[in-house]
Amino acid sequence: MNPTSETKSDFLAAPGKMPHLQGSLIDRFGRHVTYLRISVTDRCDFRCVYCMAEDMTFVPRAQLLTLEELAVVAQAFTELGVTKIRITGGEPLIRRNVIKLFRDIGQLPDIKELVVTTNGSQLVRLARDLKDAGVKRINISLDSLDPDKFRRITRVGDLGKVLAGIHSVLDAGFDRIKINAVILKNRNHDEVTDLVRFASDKGMDISFIEEMPLGVIGDHDRAEAYYSSDQIRADLEQTYTLIPTAESTGGPARYYRIMETDTRVGFISPHSHNFCESCNRVRVTCEGRLLLCLGQEHSVDLRHVVRGWPGDMERLKQTIRDSMSIKPKGHEFDLGAKPVILRHMSVTGG
Ligand code: GTP
Ligand code: 5AD
Ligand code: SF4
Repeated sequence: MNPTSETKSDFLAAPGKMPHLQGSLIDRFGRHVTYLRISVTDRCDFRCVYCMAEDMTFVPRAQLLTLEELAVVAQAFTELGVTKIRITGGEPLIRRNVIKLFRDIGQLPDIKELVVTTNGSQLVRLARDLKDAGVKRINISLDSLDPDKFRRITRVGDLGKVLAGIHSVLDAGFDRIKINAVILKNRNHDEVTDLVRFASDKGMDISFIEEMPLGVIGDHDRAEAYYSSDQIRADLEQTYTLIPTAESTGGPARYYRIMETDTRVGFISPHSHNFCESCNRVRVTCEGRLLLCLGQEHSVDLRHVVRGWPGDMERLKQTIRDSMSIKPKGHEFDLGAKPVILRHMSVTGG
């Protein structure tokens, strides 16, 4: 194993505190890891201003884990107690034959929830296949309902295509669909009520996300664009009655119900309400790097194990168990400073 720890040591617990329960993943802070996010590609057909620079260099294809290798990694995690796997990217649905990976993971005996986060551009083509592969819930990014604003935020995205994709998943009959909207001051902050109305009219949930400073992204000023969850909530309360609920989807959102509807409104607030103490997740990048935290660099190279000892599931599982000793306590984001984390969100998969 080749762990790298490049963050402040005061984020680490005292050595020797780690509980080491055979058969499940528990870190030094007693947090139980049951949720794995796999980024199957760092490529995307959009270039959202908060996520990517206009000109990006992507991982060469030879360095990607194959779909078979990704399925082996997923299996190892489920044998270690992970029950929820989210496929992300970049845009996961532009990876060739990705449905095969969904099918393979959907058939793992211990998987309870196979879910996907997508920008929606491929859903007309793939909604039915995802449903058939066992996907129950889909999260779709949608930051604006205005075609021009949508284009300015995504730089190249076509709103019509995404809306058609949303209709395809509604027709396919998934258990739950959630809209994700990153809210930026003076770009789309005036649309929060319209976005909630759009979601609730269609029986979908919606989460509002505070932008995180991951990677260098060009001319977009993150500090200037900051729009807090509390501000969004205040804006919504001009129109809606929001009732706090303790419900959780196992993700970082705090949820409210809109009175007299089935819709949940979530707030993912890494700046204003830190949720690290209840973190239950880790990430694997398309190159097979296991990331122990979205906002830190601590990682372990799983590709080295998968390719060096093919078929050795025990070695892979032991490497994953060992990684729990370097899962950091949490993230420290500062929107005003230069990004400390140089990885773009498209590499990490959100
Ligand atoms: P649910 O299963 O529906 O709760 O999904 P989710 O919110 O876990 O996943 P999704 O892919 O929809 O992510 C929504 C946002 O939450 C993205 O911007 C993610 O980057 C962010 N997010 C997820 N996990 C973490 C985390 O551990 N730390 C931080 N800071 N953000 C996270
Ligand atoms: N900060 C917050 N959210 C981001 N996303 C992408 N980049 C960022 C960022 N820098 C969101 C996408 C998608 C989810 C996976 O992450 O819009 O909804
Ligand atoms: Fe693509 Fe999602 Fe990043 Fe937008 S936020 S560029 S859709 S990976």
